[in-house]
Amino acid sequence: MSDQQIHKGLAGVVADATAISKVNPETNALLYRGYPVHELAATQPVEAVAYLLWNGELPSAAQLAELRATERAHRALADDVKTVIDLTPLDAHPMDEVRSAISVLGARELAGTGSVLDAGGSPTDNLARSIRLFAALPAIVAYGQRRRRGQEPIAARDDLDYAANFLWMTFGEEFDPVVVDAFTRSMILYAEHSFNASTFTARVITSTLSDLYSAVVGAIGALKGPLHGGANEAVLHIFDEIGDADEVVPWLERALAEKRKIMGFGHRVYKHGDSRVPTMRAALDTLIAYYDRPDVEALYVTLEREFVERKGIYPNLDYPSGPAYNLMGFDTLTFTPLFVAARVVGWTAHIMEQAASNALIRPLSAYSGVDERHVEGFVDEVGTSSITLRAAEAEG
Ligand code: COA
Repeated sequence: MSDQQIHKGLAGVVADATAISKVNPETNALLYRGYPVHELAATQPVEAVAYLLWNGELPSAAQLAELRATERAHRALADDVKTVIDLTPLDAHPMDEVRSAISVLGARELAGTGSVLDAGGSPTDNLARSIRLFAALPAIVAYGQRRRRGQEPIAARDDLDYAANFLWMTFGEEFDPVVVDAFTRSMILYAEHSFNASTFTARVITSTLSDLYSAVVGAIGALKGPLHGGANEAVLHIFDEIGDADEVVPWLERALAEKRKIMGFGHRVYKHGDSRVPTMRAALDTLIAYYDRPDVEALYVTLEREFVERKGIYPNLDYPSGPAYNLMGFDTLTFTPLFVAARVVGWTAHIMEQAASNALIRPLSAYSGVDERHVEGFVDEVGTSSITLRAAEAEG
């Protein structure tokens, strides 16, 4: 092994600069293009935050209207995308379904672009592709859940904004504004978070001059893991396993004795709490009150208190968002696809930023394998055999 310093998991490594968001673990702050995320979540629709992340500024009324018109025009579930979803096994994980759907959507959108040299696209192409992906994802996620429930897809409503339409396409219901607001907040909080694993994956793929869809498909693969986006789903599995607040302590003692990771707690960057949790926790509280579910409150609070007391590790965004999505009526398996629909905005903003100031991302590795050796019977072009090579090595 060489004496080069290894940064396992790239922990602490600053890989590049970004103007899209700033995470400050000391002050538990998260800024999107300079704005604190809780201010955006309290005041803006999802579309305005998407515009901000892509373009650097909040939209004027006219700019927001234009984005909304484009988004509404691309909401429908395309036939080829529906066919691919239908071909996916019903018991496949929905993240595999979403990944395949985006892959076919990308293949169709890029058809005719010619060689790999043309795949990257111009900044204008990529902004248009980003908006279309953002617009298309709710139908994909909603249909995935409906299909697993044996239901037909529901057509988009162009009189509803992004968040209300997303819920409409999933459930065929118009929800109370309290629920739409909680859903909006979750989508905004999930939209962007600097160089997390999936965003970095998207940037690595973009750095090879590959296309935006390939980068998003790769990012979906990274997000599926339970150490990353899969944690919101995993939190609900834990809640189901525990059952009720009285069972938290014995369950937790067992889980910690078995050295299990408790999903929804801990973060690579935040060590004193996740900046997004208070906003999502407040949204969860409104849902708990609206649906009259004190049992959820009791389980949530007890597990948090007992875990923090024992480990000093705080909840991350997935901890409140898992139960919030459950109360809204989403199936547990749909939670991580919801994260995809939100984070596609951050991914595509980073893809465009990477493309605009590109350097191939290619780190070094420290070799830790066996020393050089030679294949028995090998003789090179000047007649040196593996026996001679070994003897020369032994002599040093
Ligand atoms: N449950 C139990 N122990 C945890 C924990 C958790 N959720 N998160 C961290 N720890 C412990 C680790 O076991 C480790 O203990 P050790 O030093 O005794 O081995 C220590 O805290 C450091 O954790 P580590 O996993 O090395 O830190 P990291 O910075 O690489 O990990 C996460 C960050 C997110 C991967 C980690 O906290 C985790 O796995 N959390 C659960 C999954 C999750 O919620 N992911 C969503 C993130 S937004």
